[in-house]
Amino acid sequence: MIKKIVVINSKGGCGKTTLSTNLASYYAAHGYPTALFDYDPQDSSTRWLEQRPGHLPGVYGIAAAHQPEGNVTRSFQLRVPPGTQRLILDTPASLKRMELIEILRDAWAIIVPILPSTIDSCVTSDFLQDLGKEVHLHAPEASIAIVANRVRRNTRAFQTLMKFLADKDMSPVACLRDSQNYVQAAAEGMGIHDMKANITRVDREHWKSLIDWLETESLSSDADSLASEQHLSIA
Ligand SMILES: Nc1ncnc2c1ncn2[C@@H]1O[C@H](COP(=O)(O)OP(=O)(O)O)[C@@H](O)[C@H]1O
Ligand SMILES: [Mg+2]
Repeated sequence: MIKKIVVINSKGGCGKTTLSTNLASYYAAHGYPTALFDYDPQDSSTRWLEQRPGHLPGVYGIAAAHQPEGNVTRSFQLRVPPGTQRLILDTPASLKRMELIEILRDAWAIIVPILPSTIDSCVTSDFLQDLGKEVHLHAPEASIAIVANRVRRNTRAFQTLMKFLADKDMSPVACLRDSQNYVQAAAEGMGIHDMKANITRVDREHWKSLIDWLETESLSSDADSLASEQHLSIA
């Protein structure tokens, strides 16, 4: 089954590219033929892919932020190799509505990374409201999950984020710690799952709950039952 996973938030720097590249490399490492769509004109995911060492499992990249040239149609540009099972979409902070609709169409899951900061919470709150409406219209089967990123557990910022989410009846499906492992992996075209297991053991634990959520067969039906609310899947 093909699963289209969209990573999105209008807040810059919250971890969209980090989540997208780590998801792509996770799936590739676990034997899923994977495509990574870079909808950001800044090309961060595309550059990550260019850095990716040849001995690691390959990820098929599409620079979707750039319209095709010559006689190439958009749908031809966006095609993936036969047998591709996971489509990961990295998105920019700002999107035109038509782009958003293209991105959301047939989505299986929508992941919204959020940083533990008051500004990020407020911006994401507004964004989630708008996103919920578009998802309802254009990807009614999709589930939405929050991922808290760059978490430092014993900080007031993290507690504030958790309270902010709890007030909205939400909780993150995963909390990823703030770690240089992500910075190092990004620079080398890798994900944390490509790095030595003893260095990334804690991060792999954090990822497990996100992967479990993504690979749960009942994901869609969870969303259906929540659709009448805010269209958010709550772990
Ligand atoms: N969990 C993390 N720990 C440490 N650094 C991180 C983490 N997540 C993201 N970063 C760093 O934060 C910066 C912004 O992340 P990025 O994924 O590019 O955000 P976005 O794509 O939403 O703009 C990057 O330099 C990235 O390496
Ligand atoms: Mg990015």
